Amino acid sequence: MTIKEIFDSMAYGPAPESASEALAWLANHNHAFGHWIDGAFTKPGQTFPTSNPATGKHLAEITQGSEADVTAAVKAARRAQPGWAKLPAHQRAKYLYALARLTQKHSRLLAVLETLDNGKPIRESRDIDIPLVARHFSYHAGLAQLLPSEHPDLQPLGVCGAIIPWNFPLLMLAWKVAPALAAGNTIVLKPAEYTPLTALLFAEISREAGLPKGVLNIVTGDGTTGAALVDADVNKIAFTGSTSVGKRIRQATAGTGKALTLELGGKSPYIVFDDADLDSAIEGLVDAIWFNQGQVCCAGSRLLVHEGIAPRFYDKLKRRMDGLRIGDPLDKAIDIGAIVDPIQLDTITRLVQDNPEGDHYQAPCPLPAHGSFYPPTLITGLGTASTLMQEEIFGPVLVAMTFRTPEEAVALANNTKYGLAATLWTENINLALDIAPKLKAGVVWVNATNLFDAAAGFGGVRESGFGREGGWEGLMAYLKPAAKPTLLKPVQPLAAPTDPQVDTLDRTAKMYIGGKQARPDSGYSQPVYSPKGHLLGHVGIGNRKDIRNAVEAAHAAKSWAKTTAYNRAQVLYFIAENLSARATEFASRIKDLTGKPGTAEVEASIQRLFTYAAWADKYDGSAKSVPIRGIALAMNEPVGVIGILAPDECPLLGPISTLAPAIAMGNTVVLVPGASPLSATDLYQILDTSDLPAGVVNIVTGPAPDLAKSLAGHMDVDAVWSFSSHPISALIEAEAAGNLKRTWVNHGRARDWTGAEGEGRAFLSQATEIKTVWVPYGE
Ligand code: NAI
Repeated sequence: MTIKEIFDSMAYGPAPESASEALAWLANHNHAFGHWIDGAFTKPGQTFPTSNPATGKHLAEITQGSEADVTAAVKAARRAQPGWAKLPAHQRAKYLYALARLTQKHSRLLAVLETLDNGKPIRESRDIDIPLVARHFSYHAGLAQLLPSEHPDLQPLGVCGAIIPWNFPLLMLAWKVAPALAAGNTIVLKPAEYTPLTALLFAEISREAGLPKGVLNIVTGDGTTGAALVDADVNKIAFTGSTSVGKRIRQATAGTGKALTLELGGKSPYIVFDDADLDSAIEGLVDAIWFNQGQVCCAGSRLLVHEGIAPRFYDKLKRRMDGLRIGDPLDKAIDIGAIVDPIQLDTITRLVQDNPEGDHYQAPCPLPAHGSFYPPTLITGLGTASTLMQEEIFGPVLVAMTFRTPEEAVALANNTKYGLAATLWTENINLALDIAPKLKAGVVWVNATNLFDAAAGFGGVRESGFGREGGWEGLMAYLKPAAKPTLLKPVQPLAAPTDPQVDTLDRTAKMYIGGKQARPDSGYSQPVYSPKGHLLGHVGIGNRKDIRNAVEAAHAAKSWAKTTAYNRAQVLYFIAENLSARATEFASRIKDLTGKPGTAEVEASIQRLFTYAAWADKYDGSAKSVPIRGIALAMNEPVGVIGILAPDECPLLGPISTLAPAIAMGNTVVLVPGASPLSATDLYQILDTSDLPAGVVNIVTGPAPDLAKSLAGHMDVDAVWSFSSHPISALIEAEAAGNLKRTWVNHGRARDWTGAEGEGRAFLSQATEIKTVWVPYGE
């Protein structure tokens, strides 16, 4: 072709990236890999193939990890951990920095290998994935350096297990390995079975960085290997993958004391208002859903368009789709690469074929004759309940519907069980900043999409999982308090209604639901005696129905989240003031209940209320420095309805220390007081006279194990905390898997409620969910 002809046609010629270096690396390993354990490759065992999805060609044989392999890797990590944790932080920072530099040095090889194994366009692996990997290690080198001075009271968890999916193989590795190592943990990582190669190359790179043996271990295999890692002797599981597997892992780790973070699926809304810059919104969609074959958990796969512009927008979009180039992902001029595996291609094809509703448009892009490819697809005119609108497709299929008003856009956007990310396009800053807080999502992009950075938290709400990756918050999930834990002595729980010691209802036994005193549904109460045997009163024996009523009341009071922090602080001060006015009465109640003087506990409770009144308008969000034109705002939002099992050991300070941070941050609460509930039920008189709106705090008394089960199993409760002395942590974590609610349980560990441990940032962080809002800012 002559230059003149090229100018005439303006057609792209092929611009293939060479695969020779990556193929040579595979050949050097005889196209067969064992695991990376204790700083070296094991011999390949029983293997399965990994292939290039763009051609179907075999790349390498990968070892299927057995339970014994997982155990060996965990043992190596366990051996290496104390030495790694003892290194001066600066040394760890240097290793992480070396990993960042070596990632840059080998970036071409890593990018090509990623594209060969995963099928994503080389432009994506070269310009997005690998630079973000280097950035992640570099950022965490900084966190490692600063950790001892910033958080001297924290220590690493120990050995972390990480399980990752196939859509961002090396980036997901970086998201797990960098914080784990920065915090002083060692790690065993299981890559996805479709895409293990860059993890294995990275293992070799870690040797070049001089990383001590056993600090990083890679065990390959499928879901059974992953399940073995979950069951192994690890202190944490960091999982990214599907919601169904996430729920299974929540159940499998319940009660083990293993820390857990889950980054799960999504069906993220992509909202385009009528005043949006439509061309940019369309380019965003190309990035969000087609450039990466739609294989991004946070892909804006659910398009919501303002009705007035919908026909024009769809037309423009279709024209853009027609121009997309699909084919060899190693070609730099390609927009859409291959689907990771024929199985995934089959899933996408079936989902679309089996759901013919709506108008299906598939761009007439020529597909390569071989390999797993799927054309860019737009489906319009769907109803909210349609399967394609609700289920993750995880392919280049965009589903769309229209809205009329901003309120409707928000309602449609939130009409999903997921809550990972959301994108919104409008030139109206007032509208954008009005909508962003209303979206149920862990990440919101304004006039941009799919932006990621190590400094900005990433993670979901609802069934998209819990925990944030990135930033200081992400690092916190790999640390624990340095203080040695002591165990609680379980006290006798309140009786269940079937117990012979319960009385029929005594009229003085009251709970507190929706701002009113409430009788227990069971009709039963239990007498409460002083240590000397004097009858002090009666407490109601609450049941599932009482919990249901209390949760309903807590939901009805959710506008509490919208009151200003100043206002919430005023209410907390007012509660403290009213408690102070009745201090003598409360102190003598505590004395009656415990046999010990109560003055100090009442005083500590008043102080604690002051502490959280102070925090209410000071637990700020932050603005993250991200290396693009914009900032990422980390906004602290309330979690929602929190169920609290208060400690048994402090009748008044326990309930106050737990409910105060929760309401200070805008949550509503269902509180189950500990073993001496009378002080807590007395509290209602104080709450009643302190301008606290009805339903913000609800108090249900009764047997902690039964009520914990009801709370943790309730689909409308967003989090459950337990400080109870009863062994109910496992039960709560297992029940919580139903809607993936957040749990914060003590696993029997005592907490010093009168000291620093009884208050502070740990409570505030549990009472909030960080929403990362990316907004354009600066040049
Ligand atoms: P998947 O859940 O089937 O697999 C993910 C990983 O878990 C793989 O390594 C797999 O081998 C392993 N695994 C499978 N069963 C297991 C078990 N019982 N126990 C332990 N490990 C097990 O997910 P898939 O299909 O590989 O990935 C796609 C999913 O991941 C999508 O739903 C997507 O939305 C989600 N995802 C979420 C991200 C996020 O950050 N929230 C990022 C990327 C993907």
